[in-house]
Amino acid sequence: CGIVGYLGTRDAYPIIIEGLKRLEYRGYDSAGIAIFDGTDLKVSKTKGKVADLEKKSEAEITTHGCVGIGHTRWATHGVPNDVNSHPHVSNSGELVIIHNGIIENYDSLKQELSSRGYTFKSDTDTEVLINLIEYIKKTEGVKLGKAVQIALNQVIGAYAIAVFDKNKPEEVVVAKLGSPLAIGIGKDEDEFFIASDASPFIEYTKNAVYLEDEEMAVIRFHKGIKVRKIKDDSLVDTYVQELQINLEQIEKGGYEHFMLKEIHEQPKAIQDTYRGRLLRNEAIIKMAGIEDNMKKFLNANRIIVVACGTSWHAGLVAEYIFEDLARIPVEVEYASEFRYRNPVITENDVLIAISQSGETADTLAAIKLAKSKGAFVFGVCNVVGSSIARESHAGAYTHAGPEIGVASTKAFTTQITVLTLIALRLARAKGTISSSDFRQHLLELEMIPGKVEQALKSDDLIKNIANIYKDAKNMLYLGRGFNFPVALEGALKLKEISYIHAEGYPAAEMKHGPIALIDENMPVIVIATKKGHYEKVVSNIQEIKSRKGKIIGIVTEGDVQVRQLADHVIEVPESLEALSPLLTTIPLQLLSYHIAVMLGKNVDQPRNLAKSVTVE
Ligand code: G6P
Repeated sequence: CGIVGYLGTRDAYPIIIEGLKRLEYRGYDSAGIAIFDGTDLKVSKTKGKVADLEKKSEAEITTHGCVGIGHTRWATHGVPNDVNSHPHVSNSGELVIIHNGIIENYDSLKQELSSRGYTFKSDTDTEVLINLIEYIKKTEGVKLGKAVQIALNQVIGAYAIAVFDKNKPEEVVVAKLGSPLAIGIGKDEDEFFIASDASPFIEYTKNAVYLEDEEMAVIRFHKGIKVRKIKDDSLVDTYVQELQINLEQIEKGGYEHFMLKEIHEQPKAIQDTYRGRLLRNEAIIKMAGIEDNMKKFLNANRIIVVACGTSWHAGLVAEYIFEDLARIPVEVEYASEFRYRNPVITENDVLIAISQSGETADTLAAIKLAKSKGAFVFGVCNVVGSSIARESHAGAYTHAGPEIGVASTKAFTTQITVLTLIALRLARAKGTISSSDFRQHLLELEMIPGKVEQALKSDDLIKNIANIYKDAKNMLYLGRGFNFPVALEGALKLKEISYIHAEGYPAAEMKHGPIALIDENMPVIVIATKKGHYEKVVSNIQEIKSRKGKIIGIVTEGDVQVRQLADHVIEVPESLEALSPLLTTIPLQLLSYHIAVMLGKNVDQPRNLAKSVTVE
C-alpha cells in the first residue's frame, strides 16, 4: 500500500491525489482520501485506481482544506471494495487513519472491542486499530499521540500509519514498524508531507525525516515534529536529510529495476508470508483456510496442483515437499493441459491452484472444471480478491506485496513458503512428521530470511560470472530432487529476460539427451547442495567436465568437492533440504538479471511477455 498526508497552508487535496498516483506502483486495487474542510471530516473512497477516486471524490467531497490523508491499497485483509478501502474512521466519527501493513492480532483486538460495544463496517485490520486508539483515548483521557502509542504497544504486526482527530486538525500523528514512512518538511515548518516514500513530495521539499522502526512522530502545524520511541516514550533526535534523488529512483527504492528490487525484497516477503502463521513458541502452524477444511485435506485421495509458468515450478517444489512430509500423493499439471485433456477428477480430490496474479485464464478455467466435478479447490494467490482467490473454496495468500517485474521472483519464493507451511501443517495433523522434526522445520524456516540475505551477498561474484557467460547461445540448468524444479525456474528466468535459450533438466536425465549438446561452449549451471543426492550430482558434474562443458556450481557454504571440479561456485547457506529451493533460487535470479542488464534488455518488461495472462 501507499500512504500520503498533508498538513499546511495549501489545499491538501491535489497534493494527496498526485502523490497517490506516484505511489500507485505500491498497490492498485482501491484508493481513498480524507480531508478536513474547516468544519468537518470528508471521506471518499473507492475500489479501483486513483483516477477512479479522483472522479468519485470530486463529486462527493469538497476539495478545499489544508489537512488530509490518502491511501492506495493493495489488499491484505478483506477483498478490495469501497468499504475496505482506507481511510478508516473511528466509531465516533472523530478519528481517521491510513495504514500500510498487517496487524496480526487484529482478530483478538476486534473481539475485545466488540465486547465493549464497538462495531465494524469493514473486514480490515485497520478499522480495528483506529477504534482501539479511540477506545484508549476516551477511557484513559489521554491525547491522541499518547493513545496511538499505547495502542501500538498492544499491536503485533507491521505498520506505517497516519492518524488525525477532526477536533484537532492542526496535528497529525504518524508511526512506523516494518513499513516505510517519510516526512517532508516545508520551509519555516509551515507545511508537512507524509508518505511511504519521498516521491509524492519531492517537488515541494527536499528536506525529509525518515522514521526508523518503532518510532512515532507528532507533527504540529507551525510547531514542528517530535519523534519518540513507541516502546519507552524516549525522545529521538530528528535527523533531517537532504534528498538528492529523482522520482524514478525513489519508486524503485534506489534499485535500477523493479526485478532487482523484488529480488532483494525476498527476505521480508518470505517473513511476511509466514508471519502470524508460523508460531514457533507454541510449535504450531495456523492457517484459517487449512484449519477450516482439514477434513477435505485429510480425506483427499490426492492433491492436484494446477498453475502456469513460474507458479507451476512452485507447484513442482510443493510436490516434493507434500509427498515427503505429509505423504499425500500429488500431481502437478500445467493448467492449460489439465483443462483440455478430460482429466479424471473426483469429489475426493483436492485441487490447489497457484497464481501470483490470480487472473491467469487457464488456471481459472482449470478451477472451474475441477469445481464442476465436485473437487475441493484451494487457491494460493498473491493478489487479494483476484478472480482465482474468489473462485476458490478456500485459500491462503502469499503476502509478497505487489510484484511489478514481469519475471516473477518474490512471488515464487513466497509461494514455496506458503506451500511448505501447508505441507507441514498437514503432516502434523496426519502424524507423518515427529514433533521434534516439526519443530526443527519451524526453526529452520524462520532462519530462511536471514539466509536469503546472506545468499544475496554473492551479487558481485555473480555479476563477474554473468560477464563471462553473457554471450552464450545456450545454457543448461541441472538439479535433482527438491532442486530439480529450481533448475527449471532458473532456465525460465534466463529465457524470459535475456532471450538466451536455456533448458532445465533433472541432473540424471542429462545423459539421456542433453549431454549430446555439451562442449566447451556450453555453460552448465548445476545445483549441488550438500544434502541433495550430493554424490550423485558430483558424478553428473564429472560427466560434464569430461566433455569440456563449463560448470557453474550452486553449492552449500564450505563445499570442497564441487569447488575442485567446477569453473565457478556460488555458495548458499546450509539448510534443510526441503527448504533449500528458497536459497538456491536466489543466485539463479541474480545471474539472469545481470546477464539481461549486460545485454541491454528491458528487464522489467521483456518482449512478448505479460505480467498477467488473461487470454487462453
Ligand atoms: C505469465 C508471467 C509469469 C507467470 C505466469 C503465471 O506468463 O509472465 O511470470 O509465472 O504468467 O502467472 P500467475 O499470475 O498465474 O502466477
